[in-house]
Amino acid sequence: MKIAINTGGGDAPGLNAAIRAATLAALKRGWEVYGIKNGYGSIYTDEPFVKLDEDKVRGITLQGGTILGTANKGNPFEMPHQKDDGSWGTKDVSDQLIETFDDYGIDALVAIGGDGSMNIASRLIHKGLNIVGVPKTIDNDIFGCDVTLGFDTAIDIATGAIDRITTTAESHHRLMVVEVMGRYAGWIALYSGIASSADVVLIPEIPFSYDSIVEKIKEREAKGRHYTMIVVAEGATEKDGDIVTKGKEVGQQVQLGGIADRVANELSERTGKESRSVVLGHLQRGGSPSTYDRLISLRFGAAAIRCIQDNDFNKLVVLQDNELTRIPITSIEGKMKSVSLESDTMQTARDIGICMGD
Ligand code: F6P
Repeated sequence: MKIAINTGGGDAPGLNAAIRAATLAALKRGWEVYGIKNGYGSIYTDEPFVKLDEDKVRGITLQGGTILGTANKGNPFEMPHQKDDGSWGTKDVSDQLIETFDDYGIDALVAIGGDGSMNIASRLIHKGLNIVGVPKTIDNDIFGCDVTLGFDTAIDIATGAIDRITTTAESHHRLMVVEVMGRYAGWIALYSGIASSADVVLIPEIPFSYDSIVEKIKEREAKGRHYTMIVVAEGATEKDGDIVTKGKEVGQQVQLGGIADRVANELSERTGKESRSVVLGHLQRGGSPSTYDRLISLRFGAAAIRCIQDNDFNKLVVLQDNELTRIPITSIEGKMKSVSLESDTMQTARDIGICMGD
């Protein structure tokens, strides 16, 4: 048995742990393991794979990033391609990918990725590849999964950062607006906002109004609390407003960012208080994974190999109600897991007085 492992899309803490567990579990069964370099990007080069052995995955559980490299522009159906006239376009090279897999005798692929990678996996499944998926993204927005690898570390980093910003907000009597990642879902903002005792949390699932935030600030001022901590998800919008973007496309997706600055300026105008904005950005994706992320990544990686052993292909290994299980990759195509407005976590936020901007 020969298997390949791919890490696609944005990196997340825990990827290396998943690679290590999948590799060791496969080697234990006497299989050969090949890593795809740079998220399918190497498939069209002379050296598409790096052979993984015990030595290559030694000591990597605690390392951030991915030893294989990754790419947001690695979609084989729309691979960046320089045309004869020098301009750039995209090209469908998925058939070449299938041929390379055939040439090397790869029997199955472990695709570690987020929603974009799972959509690519769905399309490759239709072309005949045997795939097992592992859910990865700090955004925690993959449908059908209670948790994705990387999320726990991201909220830990965000919580720690917001804690630190809170002390300086209080000293200076300022409004501090902290922008966190998460794309179109508010998981990172909600979880880190609650854990760091933020006063206002703005998430894409609840379009906000400035009046509601100003009311909260005034309420705090009246109690002698002359600072306010506002956590905003990068994908949050004002009621009837648009998502703030950098106007740049990365692969197939637009780069989000800039909402914190906008909110900070508007709140200053409306309250007369000094404000500052902080964008946590890629800090949330870097560095060593938390204990939880190491463990869940190792569990996902090893579970993917058991799935292949059972010839149970085209499944995503997921955690549901604290049990590892498998769901069809194609069943999550085009879906996203948003924050449930009825969840107890959301009720907790409201019960402890967090303003959600509505
Ligand atoms: O999907 C993970 C994520 O970190 C998002 O939260 C964020 O919008 C995006 O990736 C950033 O991507 P890039 O690394 O291309 O800037």
